[in-house]
Amino acid sequence: MFKTLFLSSVLACAFLAASCSQTEQALTDEPEVAPVEQTVTESNTETSVTSNKIQHPAPAPKQVIEAPVSAQTLTQFSEKPPKTQLRQTSVVRTPFPVKRCMNLGNALEAPNEGDWGYRIRKRDLQIIKQAGFDTIRLPVRWDNHTANRAPYQIDASFMARVQDVVRQAQAVDLGVIVDVHHFEKLMRQPKRQEARFLAIWTQISKAFKGAPANVYFEVLNEPTLEIKMSQVNALYAKVIPIIRANHPKRKIILGGNSWNSVERLDEVRWPDDPNIIATFHDYGPHAFTHQGAEWSEPAMPLGRLWGGREDADELKSTYQIANAFLKKTGLPILVGEFGVIDKVPQAQRMNWTKIRRQTMEANNMAWCVWDFSGAFKSYDAGTEQWLPGVQDALFGP
Ligand code: BGC
Repeated sequence: MFKTLFLSSVLACAFLAASCSQTEQALTDEPEVAPVEQTVTESNTETSVTSNKIQHPAPAPKQVIEAPVSAQTLTQFSEKPPKTQLRQTSVVRTPFPVKRCMNLGNALEAPNEGDWGYRIRKRDLQIIKQAGFDTIRLPVRWDNHTANRAPYQIDASFMARVQDVVRQAQAVDLGVIVDVHHFEKLMRQPKRQEARFLAIWTQISKAFKGAPANVYFEVLNEPTLEIKMSQVNALYAKVIPIIRANHPKRKIILGGNSWNSVERLDEVRWPDDPNIIATFHDYGPHAFTHQGAEWSEPAMPLGRLWGGREDADELKSTYQIANAFLKKTGLPILVGEFGVIDKVPQAQRMNWTKIRRQTMEANNMAWCVWDFSGAFKSYDAGTEQWLPGVQDALFGP
């Protein structure tokens, strides 16, 4: 009941421009209904790489929305059954302590830290902690710092830098999610790169042996390109014992194919392990969140607004799928990335962010916003200020 009422008011606020002071004021001169481009998330083959970033799903042809949606239609998020029958297990899943997380994007995921304009500063971790986050997610491009020949040694100074950031985060009482990000070679040549991938995890597993329980491992960010879900599952089955050898109870985060899309969650072969977390990424619709992104080919046009009927349907459908999955498996869910590029006017970005964040919380999902001070920034490291509306969008009512 509470959830229904809560979501009604959240969504009325978002889609009907009702009584929500901050976002409403900023958006009053914009139409309630925007032209929408529907996005496609299923194929792994429609990708291209520009500037070392993998392009997210390509948009389908434009569809024009005729009328805004009623808030009431957006509250029933748990009715859609999963596409395939999920295996029932008797494992009791333990809770996931992460609630509010910040992605330190564009730093250690760049070919070299600093290449994409942001280096992690010690003070950033304090700023993030003080704002109210409990965890950071650390996207790491291990691939660029790992030898191509066996034993596939990770560069010692790079490993030390990652450990350093983890230690700094721990010092201010932040949890840390360490992932394997942008392993494009693996996703293009899964068989040829398998030994290298396992060697990377063997080294990470050893390096963080004995780390506090609030250090978490995410096995592979956004599998896409040529790798098939069956191959991702096979890799998961090999990596988990490697991690478990040193970390019997550490939380391990796994997601599905197609850039960790919500639709592929039910294709993951979930291990019978009480310390597994399911993740998906929410950038829906891409035509809004990724407009003007230079790494998309072709770049999607600027000026796309958000909040029409198709957008409401997309939001509803995403969380219906996630909710059905959660009910079926009992796995805790982390929305490991969500955010809007900083080319979108700030008020619109924060409107989308607030609605998504409220929806995640109302559906008992942990979240990790993308990102701190990269291309989807929340914080301006030049002026040392959170961007307007960020605190309300993430921590407000
Ligand atoms: C990528 C980033 C990108 C973000 C938004 C992340 O998964 O690693 O490079 O900026 O998605 O597209």
